[in-house]
Amino acid sequence: LSDGPLKGKRVIVTSGPTHEPIDPVRYIANRSSGAQGTAIAHALASLGAEVMFVTGPADVPPPEGVTVVPVETAGQMMQAVQTALPADAAVFAAAVADWRVASANTSKLKKTKGGLPVLEFAENPDILATISQMDTGRPGLVIGFAAETDDVIANATAKHARKGCDWIVANDVSHATAIMGGLENHVTLITNDGAEEWPRMAKADVAARLAERIAQALA
Ligand code: C5P
Repeated sequence: LSDGPLKGKRVIVTSGPTHEPIDPVRYIANRSSGAQGTAIAHALASLGAEVMFVTGPADVPPPEGVTVVPVETAGQMMQAVQTALPADAAVFAAAVADWRVASANTSKLKKTKGGLPVLEFAENPDILATISQMDTGRPGLVIGFAAETDDVIANATAKHARKGCDWIVANDVSHATAIMGGLENHVTLITNDGAEEWPRMAKADVAARLAERIAQALA
């Protein structure tokens, strides 16, 4: 496992959803299964990388041969990524919740007659943007994902510029249940050189191809 083009390279991979607590028993989440991030971590480790796998509560088990850092919230994921630095590359495949409940209740919300709870939200840190825009200690290659339902390439290209990352892997989730939780993915790789559409293929094959490209870039 440790011999390969990524031997001696350290890569951080985020994966899965985050869970943002409402109270001790309830949370806000999204449909990410963690399948694509897990496949990427596995592919990188297979090429010999030392992988720090920072994962939210995913449906699929983490791969073997990586260091697993389990987290629940976006705030914890941000901290875990910062602790995992320095790295040669970082792949942010997690579906991080954009918002958290501003002050999560420490006791379970009760049903009250004639009243409904009102949740106030606060913005979560943007891990991809924060790491992409580090002045010192930025990983040499920072890769983000863009799950879009409309104008996939235009939106992902704008995201590439706005976040300051090196590459964006854009995917069309307009049929969310087919991609999120599914076995296949149809992605377009956005780099400074433009947009490169890959054929629809298994998530494992997307991961293998991306890991090869990362190895080329870090060589
Ligand atoms: O802005 P948007 O959420 O669509 O961007 C998606 C990309 O940004 C993904 O790579 C995701 O992992 C990353 N992200 C992040 N922290 C957030 C929100 C998104 O790292 N708070």
